[in-house]
Amino acid sequence: MTDKIVLITGGSRGLGQSSALHLAKQGVGVVLTYLNRSDTAQAVVAEIENLGGCAAALQLDTGNIRQFESFAERFAETLDRVWERQSFDYLVNNAGIGIHASFAETTEDQFDALMNIHLKGVFFLTQRLLPLIEDGGRIVNLSSGLARFSLPGYAAYGTMKGAVEILTRYLAQELGPRGIAVNAIAPGAIETDFGGGVVRDNPEVNQFIAASTAMGRAGCPDDIGGAIASLLTGENQWITAQRIEISGGMNL
Ligand SMILES: NC(=O)c1ccc[n+]([C@@H]2O[C@H](COP(=O)([O-])OP(=O)(O)OC[C@H]3O[C@@H](n4cnc5c(N)ncnc54)[C@H](OP(=O)(O)O)[C@@H]3O)[C@@H](O)[C@H]2O)c1
Repeated sequence: MTDKIVLITGGSRGLGQSSALHLAKQGVGVVLTYLNRSDTAQAVVAEIENLGGCAAALQLDTGNIRQFESFAERFAETLDRVWERQSFDYLVNNAGIGIHASFAETTEDQFDALMNIHLKGVFFLTQRLLPLIEDGGRIVNLSSGLARFSLPGYAAYGTMKGAVEILTRYLAQELGPRGIAVNAIAPGAIETDFGGGVVRDNPEVNQFIAASTAMGRAGCPDDIGGAIASLLTGENQWITAQRIEISGGMNL
């Protein structure tokens, strides 16, 4: 068991939900955020409590930095009320959306939506929460295989994920003196609701991914949730500034 606490953005579904459950099973207290689906988020909280763990869910739009001040206050109040803590240990910047559009057809609104959630939000939420993160804590930013290899339709999305990998190295540099490790996890294609659930629900896409993957299948949420949990809770304190791809060997 552990007395650590994690904040996972977008923990109501998909990779964030799986990470929350894996971490809770290792005794980590979980604060997860959701955008609209409070019922799904509360179901994750209930599942963690059924496992004997402790969790709370908070609403947050990570694409709207004007919310971050009030979110930080609600988060601090939750830490104090539920855990009698004034700080937390692990931050997982996971919340995200997919927009599929060719470079030629990508609109400014689509670009801005992706930038606000995947880059600006990660930058300024981490900045706002910095005083609450314990020295010796850890941060994980979600990147994507699409920052290494390219597929048509992901120019804007892949650009934001590439930027998050660079941000990860800068954070590792500047937070290193506090003993805070910062890494980027880059999943391959995973069967979640992401992008309308295309990897899970479209057989042609699923088979295309399986054929491009050394291990011969598309990923599932637990492939990522388990890896994030082991990175945070294992004896990995000397791993920092790394891009760790978790894709079963996609497009090698
Ligand atoms: N799935 C993949 O193939 C894949 C591959 C590489 C990287 N990734 C990255 O992994 C992360 C998680 O993806 P996923 O597959 O788990 O997605 P998902 O199943 O669609 O879940 C998205 C989560 O993010 C939340 N969310 C969406 N927009 C938000 C916003 N503006 N503010 C706050 N929360 C928001 C959702 O909340 P609600 O439930 O309330 O809507 C939900 O909890 C993303 O950063 C994605 O880019 C995914």
